[in-house]
Amino acid sequence: MKILVIGGGGREHAIVAALKKSAENPEIHAAPGNAGIALLASCHAVKATDVGAVVALAGEIKPEWVFVAPDDPLILGAVDALNAAGFKTFGPRKSAAAIEGSKKFSKNFMSRHNIPTAAYETFTDADKAVGYIKAAGAFPAVIKCDGPALGKGVIIAQNLAEAEEAVDSIMRGGKFGESGREIVVEEYLDGVEVTVLAFTDGETLRALPACTDHKRAFDGDKGPNTGGMGVIAPVPYYTDDVAAECTENIFIPTIRGLASEGRAFKGCIYFGLMLTASGAKVVEYNCRFGDPEAQTLLPLLETDLLDITRAVWEGRLSETDVRFSPRKAACVVMASGGYPEKYETGFGITGLDEAEKMSGVYVFHAGTRSGGGGFVTAGGRVLCVTAVGDDAETALNKAYDALGKIDFSNKHYRRDRGKKAALFRTL
Ligand code: AMP
Ligand code: GLY
Repeated sequence: MKILVIGGGGREHAIVAALKKSAENPEIHAAPGNAGIALLASCHAVKATDVGAVVALAGEIKPEWVFVAPDDPLILGAVDALNAAGFKTFGPRKSAAAIEGSKKFSKNFMSRHNIPTAAYETFTDADKAVGYIKAAGAFPAVIKCDGPALGKGVIIAQNLAEAEEAVDSIMRGGKFGESGREIVVEEYLDGVEVTVLAFTDGETLRALPACTDHKRAFDGDKGPNTGGMGVIAPVPYYTDDVAAECTENIFIPTIRGLASEGRAFKGCIYFGLMLTASGAKVVEYNCRFGDPEAQTLLPLLETDLLDITRAVWEGRLSETDVRFSPRKAACVVMASGGYPEKYETGFGITGLDEAEKMSGVYVFHAGTRSGGGGFVTAGGRVLCVTAVGDDAETALNKAYDALGKIDFSNKHYRRDRGKKAALFRTL
């Protein structure tokens, strides 16, 4: 049994580690993988976004499954191309991945299916966008690129000057290239954020424990938005009542709506939610596991990820056991100082063995490479340190204990445990 995993970050390391635990003992390949993944799988120097090369690599390896993890290849149609070449896959086809690929599509989709989300307008003209924001006079105003922008294409403008600057840099300055040719301007939602990932075969939905990411780079939720600096799961404010509301008003209508439009979603769907005074609303959809949400949640998965992969493909999720541990998990990202902007790489990493030896601790590699007889930093997000514990306090403390054993020059991580983490600690 061979599996090919597409991608090369911390999320893919967590996916490879989960697949490696399968009772079927699969031989795992990754493209491109990374230095941590290379300890568990054969890595191939093929870019995840080079769909032609990915299909050609699958042709050489002949895997039973191709697991497409990152957003870009999914949005580009890697699953469609792999299926056309005869390969079975995990991940949505291009038509369903559009829920992440285009904010305009996803907002219009929610509007068609009465799924609660922030009020919005879309614009291709910068003057019209600024005119609209000025006339509305509601701040903060939220400005989003239509296309993907590495989680950085969302600007929360506190006043008109900030809004004008954002529209100008995106639409006239080309800050996010083609992704910013069209923008969505939407209402600011006040509330508590929660993320729910779910496996779905297009019909049945199996939610993972609810979690919350810490997207800002610095303590106290300050600084620029990043791909994610740390996640805690589960979150106490996502109660059974809230879960029931989200399932009825958001999750089921989303899955049914996509299927009814001939875009049945197969894979892992990501609901970014805001719990507001007037109910739960969708902030965003993603068409894949989150990063570092996967690194936090997969260590809690008690059933076989390969069984789930097969059930999702075959449309048998309703009869498949998907179980998570009731324990708590915390993941803290160790980044290169300067991330998400300019940063240096190539620094030696020490203490990995000591951290990994701790029970209930998982160290996932995001941006590392082999060097100097060990590992050196090679990216913005370098390592994701996850700890599992019987209670929230233990999980968080253990994650920070493990992280304290690891060192590299210019390391940066959130030390505040976040205000969301404070909530988590009340569990
Ligand atoms: P997104 O990439 O759409 O998830 O946006 C990144 C982050 O911006 C989200 O996690 C929220 O914290 C924030 N955000 C996005 N849209 C809104 C909104 N309409 N109201 C308040 N915050 C938002
Ligand atoms: N951590 C947020 C994301 O993967 O989009």
